[in-house]
Amino acid sequence: MPAISASAPGKLILCGEHAVVYNQPAIAIPVLSLSTTTKIFAHPTAPKGEVIINAASQRIKENIHVLPEDHSIRRIVELVQANFGLSEMPACEIQITSTLPIASGLGSSASLSISVIRALSEFIGHPLPVERVNALAFEAEEIHHGNPSGIDNTVIAYEKPVYFERGKPLQFISIGTSMHIIIASTGISTSTALAVAGVHDRWQKDPARYEALFTQIGSLSRQIRQYLSQGFTKPVGELLTRNHSLLQEMGVSCPELDQLVNVSLAAGALGAKLSGGGMGGNMLALVKEETSPTIEKALTSAGAKFCLKVTLPSSMEG
Ligand code: PMV
Repeated sequence: MPAISASAPGKLILCGEHAVVYNQPAIAIPVLSLSTTTKIFAHPTAPKGEVIINAASQRIKENIHVLPEDHSIRRIVELVQANFGLSEMPACEIQITSTLPIASGLGSSASLSISVIRALSEFIGHPLPVERVNALAFEAEEIHHGNPSGIDNTVIAYEKPVYFERGKPLQFISIGTSMHIIIASTGISTSTALAVAGVHDRWQKDPARYEALFTQIGSLSRQIRQYLSQGFTKPVGELLTRNHSLLQEMGVSCPELDQLVNVSLAAGALGAKLSGGGMGGNMLALVKEETSPTIEKALTSAGAKFCLKVTLPSSMEG
């Protein structure tokens, strides 16, 4: 029997991270050049309930029951099983491969959840609609990230640029002209949960200061959305850099991120900021296509562990 296969992309938060946890809007785009793929091989002769998890990047090839109860992959499979009210899963091997670096702010955990949910629901014979895939992936994110806003699973499930506000209907954004972004990694693995918890602690100690920061970031996201749809790249860049300053004030940047931001601006980027939880992970630089090789070279010389160029295509074309 041929394997069932499903994939999910990575993601990049353009602006509004952290503030989005406090109900401010944020913008995220899918990164389609990176993906997680889940293949499911039926094992018709094995006993029901025997599920083998084969995830090379996590060096796992085990029966699911051997994994700790709170293991993320085990929890995702159990969420899908519960969704369909199955007492046991049909015997199978779940093989997961990914080109996404783990714990780097590119959405590896939500991408994994969504590819597994899509593949398993198809294997069970009831492919789930995107809304349900998204809701289950959010539950999976909650297990490991404590208080996620839901932006990661949403942009990955819908695979379109999103304007996301917690508790409000999802909005897709239009892009007036294609934009070029370089993602550069500090090489420092980060924990989003820790970064979010740090902001929460500081917010509790000084709510007025933090709420002002969240509000200012929310206002930047609104303006960025406007300029994106009008195709005005230069002001988008300026506002992204301003967003970075506010994230620095919030205490989620680090010297390595600041260095990559400064280097890309000095090399001619239109704007640059950290992206995601911060304290390491990635930064992004909005660049003109013609300056992108120079900026990428400058970032690599300044210690970026990898650079990836992504193009945000204009939604006005084709
Ligand atoms: O670290 P990432 O890329 O998964 O970013 C998470 C974004 C935060 O706003 C910091 C948290 C959240 O749940 O929205």
